[in-house]
Amino acid sequence: MDRRTFLGSLLSLPLIPKVESPTSLSEPSDEEDFWRAIRAEFMLHPSIINLNNGGVSPHPRSVVEALFRMELAANEAPAYVMWRLQDQKEPIRQRLAAIGGADPEEIAIVRNSTEALETVIFGLDLRAGDEVIAAESDYPSMVAAWKQREARDKIKVRWVRLLLPSDDEEKLIAPYLDAITTRTRVIHLTHLINWTGQIVPVEQIIKEARRRGLFTIVDAAHSYAHIPLDFHAMGCDAAGVSLHKWLCAPFGTGLLYVRKERIKDIWPLFAAPPDRKSDDIRKFEHLGTRSIPTEQAIAAALDFHERMGIQRKSERLRFLRRYWLSEALKMPKVRSLTPERLAGALATIQVEGWTPQRLADHLLEKYRLLVVGIDWAGLQGIRITPHVYTALWELDRLLEALQAL
Ligand SMILES: Cc1ncc(COP(=O)(O)O)c(C=O)c1O
Repeated sequence: MDRRTFLGSLLSLPLIPKVESPTSLSEPSDEEDFWRAIRAEFMLHPSIINLNNGGVSPHPRSVVEALFRMELAANEAPAYVMWRLQDQKEPIRQRLAAIGGADPEEIAIVRNSTEALETVIFGLDLRAGDEVIAAESDYPSMVAAWKQREARDKIKVRWVRLLLPSDDEEKLIAPYLDAITTRTRVIHLTHLINWTGQIVPVEQIIKEARRRGLFTIVDAAHSYAHIPLDFHAMGCDAAGVSLHKWLCAPFGTGLLYVRKERIKDIWPLFAAPPDRKSDDIRKFEHLGTRSIPTEQAIAAALDFHERMGIQRKSERLRFLRRYWLSEALKMPKVRSLTPERLAGALATIQVEGWTPQRLADHLLEKYRLLVVGIDWAGLQGIRITPHVYTALWELDRLLEALQAL
């Protein structure tokens, strides 16, 4: 039994043997060879075409192997191997900072965007009557976190509604700036909206926020390692990232960015020992016992990412979205919720006559295409998220399925 068959047999879904399609007619050569080699590094499901890489992405074999190697070694004597030999965070911190346009002293390694962002949401000193601006289309856990602060601390959240999709920067910025009052203290922004792939021009909102002395938090769960990103240029005070999405790092890895001067303004979610200097970013990493192999295997994901480079990778991801979406939009019943320019790999479409969940189920059952039904803040559709390992023939399959509908 080879590895692929073995992994497949562990899963409950019935297996349909996957026939690798002939290369798509529109494939140019050299560049496609590069991406075919990238694809070969993933241990793909034998029968499912995974177009839901937005929730979480697989990691390539090099990352899985690094993780398992360290896990095996750690179990020989955990306190010795994990804590004395493996726990080498600083080089990883430096490399994560370099990709995000940050100083290593501004990067904490955490478990995901939820931990990163909620550390900031709950760690800021806010008083009754203080106002926060956030969007209805922000991620549900962050919406819930702000609502919890409203209930506990009597702050007020002003929820803005963005008119989506939009390639008009001014129209995306205006709702935020219009919501600012003399009581505003914080603006919470989602950089790349998970529901539709919309990129929000956060830089311009942050510029204005900083001019007014407001604290800005950026939910960068989907933008880091997906599109070029530079926290210093962006100017935000804090940001949260999931490394298990676009970096292909182990499940349960993320980072928290906090601008150096602002670290002292945020309480850690898990109280750090007193010897931790209050402006030391490491105070946000005080979680107790955690999986060191999981954290350390981020290095293998960084190697993988750096081989592609962010320019080449982000262009590929945009290309994959345009490849299928431009064809899908020629079909009379398909409508896009994703803008043409301000978007990366993610895109969401509506198909007339189909509810999101019904359509997602149908595509999985009939075509073995894994997509996700979206229904949040008035946005309804199916979200298609290819990744660097997605083959063009897989997107052709999606188009065939849409055509058949
Ligand atoms: C915009 C956004 N923010 C935050 C999160 C939470 O990420 P995680 O589950 O890795 O904490 C997600 C997850 O999909 C997301 O899309």
